[in-house]
Amino acid sequence: MTDLKFQCIIIMNQVFKKMINHIELIQKLLQQPSAELLRCVPNWNIDEIKNLNYKFAPFKDEVLVSQYAQSGHDRSKISVYNYHEPNEMPKFITEHVKPRFDFLDKVCAAFNYFKPGQYLPPHSDLYGKYMQLYDVHPKNIVRCILMLENSCPGQILQIKDSTFGSWKSGDCFYWNYDEIHAFYNFSMKDRYAIQITGIINEKSK
Ligand SMILES: [Fe+2]
Repeated sequence: MTDLKFQCIIIMNQVFKKMINHIELIQKLLQQPSAELLRCVPNWNIDEIKNLNYKFAPFKDEVLVSQYAQSGHDRSKISVYNYHEPNEMPKFITEHVKPRFDFLDKVCAAFNYFKPGQYLPPHSDLYGKYMQLYDVHPKNIVRCILMLENSCPGQILQIKDSTFGSWKSGDCFYWNYDEIHAFYNFSMKDRYAIQITGIINEKSK
């Protein structure tokens, strides 16, 4: 076999493998979104992200927060800081992040961060703003957390029965619309992430 033929076969194999990986990825995402499945190559300026105009956001499910408070939790800690659309987003969101989520439609991005000691105990998301913006059935919603920095000890993410205490900048974690999840910042460092919300598009089903 000539070298050229051999190289062509290698390239074709690589392309084919990539296609298979992508299909497998989407299938896994549909069935098991809590796993760490996709990465987004970090190309962001973390200082730009830290300088966004964040707002303090207590968790909106008042009934659930009251139950936690009655159990002894400090309700001021059950909160997060966020920055979301329609605020102007940094350029890398439209140029780099959203295209990575081409298996989703109606993609919305928001930044959030937890100060040390802040946490959101086990809960389901409400999607209030997203549902206002888009006429979608909540059961089709997928949410992703894209980590913007490497984790440090004490930063913990929980999705259903899985707990994650270590990740790299660019790692993504998923859950389906009402799956229980939680985040705790028991570290001494702020934790920054992008929250991506969307629905699986028809071509990926
Ligand atoms: Fe949540």
